[in-house]
Amino acid sequence: MFLKLGKKGSAAGSVTELVRSSGLRHIAFIMDGNGRWAKKRGLPREAGHKEGSAVFKKLIEYCGEIGIKTVTVYALSTENLKNRPKKEIDALMKLFEAYFRDCTNSTKAKDLEIRFIGNREPLPDSIRSMMTELEARTGEKTKRLNIAINYGGRDEIVRSVNKLISAGAKCVTEDDITASLDTGECVPPDIIVRTGGESRISNFLLWQSAYSELYFSEKYWPDFTEKDVDEAVRWFAGRSRRFGGI
Ligand code: IPE
Ligand code: IPE
Ligand code: MG
Repeated sequence: MFLKLGKKGSAAGSVTELVRSSGLRHIAFIMDGNGRWAKKRGLPREAGHKEGSAVFKKLIEYCGEIGIKTVTVYALSTENLKNRPKKEIDALMKLFEAYFRDCTNSTKAKDLEIRFIGNREPLPDSIRSMMTELEARTGEKTKRLNIAINYGGRDEIVRSVNKLISAGAKCVTEDDITASLDTGECVPPDIIVRTGGESRISNFLLWQSAYSELYFSEKYWPDFTEKDVDEAVRWFAGRSRRFGGI
């Protein structure tokens, strides 16, 4: 079979075609396994997060190159913030800050619409103001990146319903809840990829994942590559999505 060569001389061209023909508009990642990646190398967990952050930057770009319009990443759950040692949370906050600074300064990130999902209230002021600043950037945006920080699917649904109640609702519809979630007008994820070998959703996009295809990889997040994304796309393209039909 003839494969069109993509920009990088790989088969990226054919993957781009698969993204298009399969209608893959939104990919979400549960970036799990940083800690175990570090432990395996005798390094502190924080080193795993640092490596994970580099992989995140690379793969966000790659998803854009192969034509995926929306990417959502799970960076910190509500349970992570509650249950992990301060040292690890502080290191994660530093990595978030560094990435936000990168985005503010780089021209590459200019065509990226960045939105944060999750409950910002308990986050440090410095981080929150950078989040607001990044979301307020204007310009031609062709791609969207949702970053889930202090995010929990249950928390998001509760906040959404409470917003509707505060606005005077007595009875709510599915459409009302969908629209008032943090993801707002975003299409639901077509595929959710979880690395790190666990086959669970860990409170991620509970409402939005109703008909998402779930893809689990044994690889730790810092080991996940463009080729692994290609494999997930190929797997997705082979699914038959029925949405309850026949
Ligand atoms: C995912 O990696 C990143 C975050 C939860 C912030 P982990 O930190 O959960 O890594 P493991 O699962 O302990 O290996
Ligand atoms: C899910 O990973 C959260 C993120 C990747 C940010 P966890 O490591 O927190 O999930 P559990 O605890 O194994 O379910
Ligand atoms: Mg984990």
